[in-house]
Amino acid sequence: MAATNSRSRLQYLLHLAQDNLDFRLPEITALLALRGKPFQPGENFREKCPFWCLDGLSEEDVRGIMARSVCAKSAFELWGHGQTHSELRTSLLNYPAERMSPFMQKDSSYRINVYTFNKTLEFADRIKRIDAMVYLPFEGTVSLKSPEHVFCLLEDYGTDPNNIPEHPNYIYFGRWIADGQRELIRSHSVKNRHFIGNTSMDAGLSFIMANHAKVKKDDLVFDPFVGTGSLLVACSQFGAYVCGADIDYNTIHGRGRSSRKNQKWRGPDENIRANLRQYGTEDMYLDVMVSDASKPAWRKAALFDAIITDPPYGIRESTRRTGSHKDITKPPDGIYAESHISVSQAYHLSDIFTDLLNFSAHQLVVGGRLVYWLPVYRPEYCEEMIPLHPCLRLTSNCEQTLSSHTSRRLITMEKIKEPEELDSMAHVADPCFRPYEGHNAFREKYFSGVNKRCGKQDNKSETAESADTL
Ligand SMILES: C[S@@+](CC[C@H](N)C(=O)[O-])C[C@H]1O[C@@H](n2cnc3c(N)ncnc32)[C@H](O)[C@@H]1O
Repeated sequence: MAATNSRSRLQYLLHLAQDNLDFRLPEITALLALRGKPFQPGENFREKCPFWCLDGLSEEDVRGIMARSVCAKSAFELWGHGQTHSELRTSLLNYPAERMSPFMQKDSSYRINVYTFNKTLEFADRIKRIDAMVYLPFEGTVSLKSPEHVFCLLEDYGTDPNNIPEHPNYIYFGRWIADGQRELIRSHSVKNRHFIGNTSMDAGLSFIMANHAKVKKDDLVFDPFVGTGSLLVACSQFGAYVCGADIDYNTIHGRGRSSRKNQKWRGPDENIRANLRQYGTEDMYLDVMVSDASKPAWRKAALFDAIITDPPYGIRESTRRTGSHKDITKPPDGIYAESHISVSQAYHLSDIFTDLLNFSAHQLVVGGRLVYWLPVYRPEYCEEMIPLHPCLRLTSNCEQTLSSHTSRRLITMEKIKEPEELDSMAHVADPCFRPYEGHNAFREKYFSGVNKRCGKQDNKSETAESADTL
């Protein structure tokens, strides 16, 4: 990045958290798209770097992104940058004075922070850095406690903690605009949540999913495998009306055994509605129902702005659907027989994803998004394994590594057209349709990997208890 760039255009600097690296670009791109803006990175953009320079935005855009992002920590109006402090100085002195002066007035107060990535600076060195910036025409008074304007000198020492350079690789200086929503990760932690289950989705990932789905105020969002409603909590926080379904009666009604350590049974008010109430979004709760995702109860219509879900992989919870393998033979007339046979059968992973894509193709509005997790056996993963549907465009595919051989991928798809109305199977012949194959292989490989780690023989009856990652 040349320090002597033309400074005629305004640039903003995002400082991003260095976790969930894969999820950051789709999150920021989706939040920009919500504002009708494209993602326009500055020169020498590196996706894995903690600092991104963005072009083509207004301060309002940046504030809008930061009001939603859980991947970005802070945003700055970039005043200067360079590979050395001398380059930074040149760059800052080239920055238009009329852009600086409103924030440097005599009657204003300010503070300069020093932030270093991948290196800790002594207090005295920080002060030296600030003192060295005397060439900037600050006229206001310093206020450490409540400054009107905050500036930041950011030094990037690379991402390798075992190889920290003496001097920074890159330096930025800018005016602080806003912080992101990292605080939501703490305030919504499932540790302190009213109603939780074994597979409650982590708060940070739930908000990332809501952002990838471009959930916005007054949207209608559905989770067909709702569990304890973690994804509904996140979407309601962003102003969406939420509803969900789950095959498990106890989960939907907040009954049965508790997932908490020292508690045997769920308390009287442990349910999804209470979770939303805990965070002040009960108004956005529509309802949840007991329903099997393989036989959706909805009339076929474009009802939802987003479908956002974490389907079961059969590791910590079973993958079942209603129905029987056994033929039901009709008894001769007049002979009484039990009319209801309560049975279930295996719900194969490949069917779960095919059903989910078909359901989304019908029930999403055009432009609406499906966001879901797909389990992957890493040694055999290739992009061609991602299921496709002619009505859904694959928007992003991000990996969260779980172990050396397993991961899950966060898939985002956008509905681009309505499915064929008359022939619901027409898409099967469409070259853009690709069902998911190999999920049974995933389960087999997953469990054999777990068994190997546990020093056991390959044992098909191995269950969730020994699978500690999904
Ligand atoms: C991974 S969990 C979802 C966890 C949820 N995101 C949360 O935060 O609690 C998957 C859920 O799918 C449900 N499920 C399994 N088979 C189903 C089916 N055929 N139809 C609907 N839900 C099903 C399970 O009962 C379980 O609650």
